[in-house]
Amino acid sequence: MLKLGVNVDHVATVRQARKALLPDPYKAAKICIKAGALQITAHLREDRRHINDADLEKLCSKIKVVNMEMAVTPEMIKIARKLKPHSSCLVPEKRQELTTEGGLDVAGNLEHIKDAVAKLQKKGIVVSLFIDPETEQIKAAAASGSEFIEMHTGSYANASGAKQKKELKRLIKGAELAHSLGLKVNAGHGIDYENIKGILKIPHLEELNIGHSIIARAVMDGMRKAVSEMLGLMAKYRG
Ligand code: PXP
Repeated sequence: MLKLGVNVDHVATVRQARKALLPDPYKAAKICIKAGALQITAHLREDRRHINDADLEKLCSKIKVVNMEMAVTPEMIKIARKLKPHSSCLVPEKRQELTTEGGLDVAGNLEHIKDAVAKLQKKGIVVSLFIDPETEQIKAAAASGSEFIEMHTGSYANASGAKQKKELKRLIKGAELAHSLGLKVNAGHGIDYENIKGILKIPHLEELNIGHSIIARAVMDGMRKAVSEMLGLMAKYRG
């Protein structure tokens, strides 16, 4: 069965915009699981701009099916080994970026990545590498000891027309190569309610990690209820 992992980072983004207590990514995660998501994804960034250490600790201890997105740094490896999320997805991270921009350069850093993969797997954490669907990177991922790759679908999601078709072909070819090398295949980034149809043409998919489009939809779908409830309280207390 194809698993949906919901990335709850942007619930924390809204909270951090006010440095307030709400909305709570843990509560959002519980709703996602109730709705049928089989995984909660959260990215603990070096600058803690959305998910913070306390969020991740609570998610890992109470939700169990947590996928920790993380940079390949000693700090993050130490945190993951302590909190033991079910899985971790190794991603590149740049301080100034708005979101993860490209895939991890596994081919250029194979020994470093191999070492990180082994350290995480030793604690029972399932590891995936977030990479672009490029032959060189897929081959390196297979050599790294990682069980999964997560193919970066951002270029497909940001394209349209013939360019999007080309990007989809690249993803399909990438998934086929990864599968033939014994890797399991996930995908994520920029997947939304429109482009999901094309994404599902990619073979061998085990899991999709989707954040922004689901959180954006949740805000819109909840707006009527939120406004009605406030109006109800205004009517009640004003008499
Ligand atoms: N997968 C990875 C590795 C990511 O870095 C992100 C973004 O945090 C996602 C999936 C989710 O992307 P989006 O928020 O665009 O759905």
